[in-house]
Amino acid sequence: TGGVTTIDPGFKNTGSCESAITFLNGEEGILRYRGYAIEELAEKADFLEVAYLLIFGELPSAEKLLKFHNDIRAQSRVDEDVKKILDGFPKSAHPMGVLSSLTSALVAFNPSSVNVDSEEEMYNAIVRILGKFPVLTAWTYRKRAGLPLDYGDASLGYVDNFLKMMFKHPNDEYKSNEVVVDALDKLLILHADHEQNCSTSTVRIVGSSHAGLFVSISAGIAALWGPLHGGANQAVIEMLEAIKDDDGDTKKYMAKAKDKSDPFRLMGFGHRVYKNFDPRARIIKKAADEVLADLGVEDPVLDIAKGLEKEALEDPYFVDRKLYPNVDFYSGIIYRAMGIPVEMFTPMFALGRLPGWIAQWREMRLRKEPIGRPRQVYIGENLRKFKDIENR
Ligand code: SDX
Repeated sequence: TGGVTTIDPGFKNTGSCESAITFLNGEEGILRYRGYAIEELAEKADFLEVAYLLIFGELPSAEKLLKFHNDIRAQSRVDEDVKKILDGFPKSAHPMGVLSSLTSALVAFNPSSVNVDSEEEMYNAIVRILGKFPVLTAWTYRKRAGLPLDYGDASLGYVDNFLKMMFKHPNDEYKSNEVVVDALDKLLILHADHEQNCSTSTVRIVGSSHAGLFVSISAGIAALWGPLHGGANQAVIEMLEAIKDDDGDTKKYMAKAKDKSDPFRLMGFGHRVYKNFDPRARIIKKAADEVLADLGVEDPVLDIAKGLEKEALEDPYFVDRKLYPNVDFYSGIIYRAMGIPVEMFTPMFALGRLPGWIAQWREMRLRKEPIGRPRQVYIGENLRKFKDIENR
């Protein structure tokens, strides 16, 4: 049989590790980072504070947070030759493919970040990727938009400076928009970690071969790109737009989602663990109303989304399968209101998930977890004799 007698497709009932980072209760819709409720962190903390908490296990004092931010700022430069790699991509390249490639390419420019064994070497690799990833993300967007690439203004906060690198136009003064900064900061916190999801498990298993932090993150970006995972936030908006163009005919799309012969799924609905409302979706839905009102943005797809949610929560197909809106259902509506284009939605998810991936990789390395190497049940041919080609 190849070593085992039963398998668990998708690891629905398999625990891969012990972890002290994130606690989920899918039945009650509970999410906590290092014991702190997501609702409190989203309200009271900022993204870099939550990144520190996830990675090192404690909320930082003011001086520890400042040192962390300064260490990240000191690593926020990217070798000019990386721009040549970026230049090689057609403008049509999806940003997630560009980012996975550039993150992997960073290894060539930061060789010391490959074989990290000591906590100090891990810390150096961690602040490097936290410093460089926002730059790569903003540059990927700017390249597609045909805009110049720069480093923003390091004196700004982490999220504010990312927005400046994204949106500063060559000939006008960049003015921070507090509503946008706060909204993105909250969204990034809500995406920061989610225990052993597909992309985090990918980061852990690549990291378990001691391949290094940057390529483990690059692999996580690739896994997150899938429409069943982080790529759903882009697919949700594309679905809502299609419904809008179809005279808002949600019933047609609900029917498609329930039709087993149709591969279409209601994007932004369902979850492997949450069999109740995704607590992040609840917070994001509320934030969508607030941010759009603050920005004076009217977006017809928000009403379509709310209508779809209401219908699904009353539909036996969805109720029986405990399918609720997940983190991806409303987030794109806020990103769009901020001026972030739809192909950059999943990179926003990656920017938010980066600290979680880092925390999980660090925990796996510090706990000296063995290399990931599952077994199988063999269902192939029995022993066969080789046939020369003239006899085949
Ligand atoms: C994320 O794991 C994480 O924590 C992920 C994440 C994170 O923070 O890292 O939370 C982020 O990836 C959120 C999920 C984003 N994906 C989507 O919104 C895509 C649409 N959702 C589905 O593809 C699905 O719900 C998954 C992938 C999220 C979960 O899939 P599962 O757990 O493998 O469930 P399943 O595919 O076995 O579905 C169970 C049943 C099936 O029907 P039956 O065979 O029982 O008749 O529910 C149906 C499915 O057909 N179903 C759906 C559906 N989701 C599940 N039917 C229609 N629309 C859907 N969205």
